[in-house]
Amino acid sequence: MNKATPPLVHIETFGCQMNESDSELVRSLLKREGYGFTDDRERADVMLMNTCAIRENAHNKVYGHLGELHAIKKERPLVVGVLGCMAQSLKDELTKKVPLIDVLAGPDAYRQLPMLISNALQAQEQGFSKKAFALDLSEYETYEGVMPDREDGINAWITVMRGCDNFCSFCVVPYTRGRERSRDPQGVLAEARQAAALGYKQITLLGQNVNSYRSDDWDFARLISAVADTPGIERVRFTSPHPKDFPRPLLEAIAGHPKICKHIHLPLQAGSDRILDLMGRSYTADEYRRLVDQIRQVVPEIVLTSDIICGFCTETDADYDQTYRLVEQVRFHSAYVFAYSERKNTIAARKYPDDVAEEVKSIRVQRLVDLQREIGAARNREYIGRNVSVLVERDATRSPEQWMGRTDGNITVIWDKGTDALQPGMFTTRLITGASTAALFGE
Ligand code: SAH
Ligand code: SF4
Ligand code: F3S
Repeated sequence: MNKATPPLVHIETFGCQMNESDSELVRSLLKREGYGFTDDRERADVMLMNTCAIRENAHNKVYGHLGELHAIKKERPLVVGVLGCMAQSLKDELTKKVPLIDVLAGPDAYRQLPMLISNALQAQEQGFSKKAFALDLSEYETYEGVMPDREDGINAWITVMRGCDNFCSFCVVPYTRGRERSRDPQGVLAEARQAAALGYKQITLLGQNVNSYRSDDWDFARLISAVADTPGIERVRFTSPHPKDFPRPLLEAIAGHPKICKHIHLPLQAGSDRILDLMGRSYTADEYRRLVDQIRQVVPEIVLTSDIICGFCTETDADYDQTYRLVEQVRFHSAYVFAYSERKNTIAARKYPDDVAEEVKSIRVQRLVDLQREIGAARNREYIGRNVSVLVERDATRSPEQWMGRTDGNITVIWDKGTDALQPGMFTTRLITGASTAALFGE
């Protein structure tokens, strides 16, 4: 490679935090081979898209962007690479539908990426196009020893486990990210110390089933407590956990360590036992309810959020009503509500009919969203009159005259900048004087 003018790479990331974190690994792997990076698409020699496959609209977004690249590639040389979950799950379909793709790399194949891109660039220089794919899923790859090239200045993602063995019947992730594997705890702790040395105040531990983490005699409770002991780190979060892995010692660790944030994202998916069983979620509505009670008993100040799917295969009005009622009872702080989207080759796609009409799915989603809005706003109003500790993140989206930050429970707080000498990454205490569904307003 010509070191004087290294090829410039532009990377765009779709999907979940795991993909954000993987894009940081990809940047690190490419930078150490001499590649440069640019935010400006016009200047890029290589355009990478780190993609998501979780629902059909995730696919559609990527197809939209690939369409734009097509126009650019007609005018000048450009290497196009598709990474991530869609690359892994669609392979042939993607390259057939979109001939402009030069490189395809799945989530376990990023160590091969510098070589694949360099081959594609060379081929392009010689006037032909050579497609290169790396799509092997691995039982071992955890990218140990690759220090992520981080971008965000406040929160450092640390992936502690990869893959998923749960095979929930609706979900594509076990097929796109392969089997579960946990990292060595010492590697995780070294990354935590490095993040602290770089000035990060918050760490978010990541994994598709982050609380299933296990490495010899290290379980998730031990790992998160050790990460929270890292000098300089003030907050530790984690996502996404599965309800099946919340032993009491983990709840006690969350309750007992001042630096572990009092927020749990606890995906519910459905409130009908029949649907939960078809989904392969391994808990009943009652077990979920009891877990929530136990969490609230051990960690009284906990903020609970969730994911819910409406219109899963064979879901009747009566099944849906059970979900609706459970949401009324549990009163999450917030929840993402999704319409079921059939994914190819999943258990549900093979075994059950996608028989709830799209309009019915939308109505069910909307009713739950409305209910959750009301509950969320009421929950937020409970903070009015209280002082909360906030980590300053950035200017508020609506106005550069206001700051945006988050509470320990991950609730957004907005307040006027005034004359305070605050900076992103600093902590401040705010008296809450107002609340909406989405945010608290501070003085
Ligand atoms: N590993 C995480 C979930 C990752 S996917 C967990 O188990 O909690 C994030 C959310 O997307 C899921 O919780 C689920 O609510 C939703 N989801 C996954 N597959 C879906 C599908 N096929 N259709 C609609 N929503 C889906
Ligand atoms: Fe998907 Fe279930 Fe694994 Fe979460 S636990 S990633 S929903 S299969
Ligand atoms: Fe999407 Fe893959 Fe994450 S499918 S949600 S990017 S694990």
